[in-house]
Amino acid sequence: MADPYPTCWLNGVYLPLAQARVSPLDRGFLFADGAYEVVPVHRGRPFRMREHLERFDRSLRELRIRNPLTIAQWAEVTDGLVRAAQAPELLVYMQVTRGAEHGRNHLFPPASVEPTAFAFAGPYPQPSPAVLQAGLASVTLEDTRWARCDIKSVSLLANVLLRQEAQDRGGAEALLTRDGRVTEGSSSTIFIVRAGTLLTPPNDRSILPGTTRDAVLELAAGSMPVEIRGFTVEEMRSADEVWIGSAGRGVLPVTSIDGQQVGPGRPGPCWQAMYARLQQHLDAIAARPALEHA
Ligand code: PDD
Repeated sequence: MADPYPTCWLNGVYLPLAQARVSPLDRGFLFADGAYEVVPVHRGRPFRMREHLERFDRSLRELRIRNPLTIAQWAEVTDGLVRAAQAPELLVYMQVTRGAEHGRNHLFPPASVEPTAFAFAGPYPQPSPAVLQAGLASVTLEDTRWARCDIKSVSLLANVLLRQEAQDRGGAEALLTRDGRVTEGSSSTIFIVRAGTLLTPPNDRSILPGTTRDAVLELAAGSMPVEIRGFTVEEMRSADEVWIGSAGRGVLPVTSIDGQQVGPGRPGPCWQAMYARLQQHLDAIAARPALEHA
């Protein structure tokens, strides 16, 4: 089988992924001390590139890690990976950690220690016809993550455990709850539709400010009422439609929660319209420069 990840980029150099070497003393390995981004590429064009890179920069600033590249330089790195991958639909992963010292120390290393910067482009698995037709099953789980979920940190242990628990219970996503309110999915933004109005929680420290969320809200403007507000688990269970959104999965319908149907248990008309609008939007901007908005 052809290697799906032929090329990566590590600290300024493009090289085969199999040849990439990072010290086991790297703080990404020892402490998950870093930030990351996942950028979807459609028809060879990274989607909402500037927004991803600004969020990346913000995450790093919040963690007090120096971003070794400018936004324009990260865009160039991405461009190189997309060209090397020679596939139109890709997910580009990028990560910066605080770097490697000569030992293990909870304190930040001296400023002379260079951050480790890494990126690769891999396949973008598209949703199957079965998922588009039937939607996803989900389970609710208590949100056990830390208090700064607005930072896209590589410390994803709680997200990983929650996603696996959902999977073990037959769900394709864990819908996370805190004090009876819904925060987001384990790796996605949550949306519900009630009486024709699209609702999603506000960006605060309990959720990641999603790029897909912004795209969905922009595309909804003018076509359906939107309310940015928190909602309870009960409001979600009794919603007409529930969607999740992320760079890795686009916007997908959730048709069951904890074994109970959402609405009639099929993807709803509002999701269908939004899905079509997003596909049209992606096609319409495919030829635009990557750093141009959207
Ligand atoms: N995750 N919330 C969480 C906790 C996430 O991990 C993600 C995305 C999102 C959606 O953000 P965006 O629309 O910008 O992808 C919300 C990525 C895809 C991941 O970790 O693979």
